[in-house]
Amino acid sequence: MKLSRIIIAIAFIGYIIFSVTSCKSSEFITSKSGAQLWGENCVRCHNIPSPNIYSDKQWELAVSHMRLRGNLTKVETDKITEFLQAAN
Ligand code: HEC
Repeated sequence: MKLSRIIIAIAFIGYIIFSVTSCKSSEFITSKSGAQLWGENCVRCHNIPSPNIYSDKQWELAVSHMRLRGNLTKVETDKITEFLQAAN
């Protein structure tokens, strides 16, 4: 009887810790701006491309191409595209 209560308490505490930390990490990823994501991701493989080399339509295509190359998430891709289209 007592032992099962302890197990439930440990499971509950573990659940709380898990939900708090998992929430924090996803917030951290999405709180980055498009400019920040562009600066961090697009230099990994080549020189950072200046926003003004392409039109809005061309950026849409190029970033979705780089999404595959760089394994970016949908949110990151959208933010980077938005930033490049606003800055060109
Ligand atoms: C994993 C490596 C990698 C990452 C990360 C990466 N690129 Fe690229 N990029 C490439 C390669 C390789 C090419 C050469 C074309 C090809 O074969 O895909 C390229 C080509 C390009 C080109 C030339 C036009 C085109 O579409 O091929 C542009 C513009 C470009 N990258 C922009 C970006 C931007 C913006 C980002 C950030 C979102 C980015 N890249 C992130 C690897 C990468």
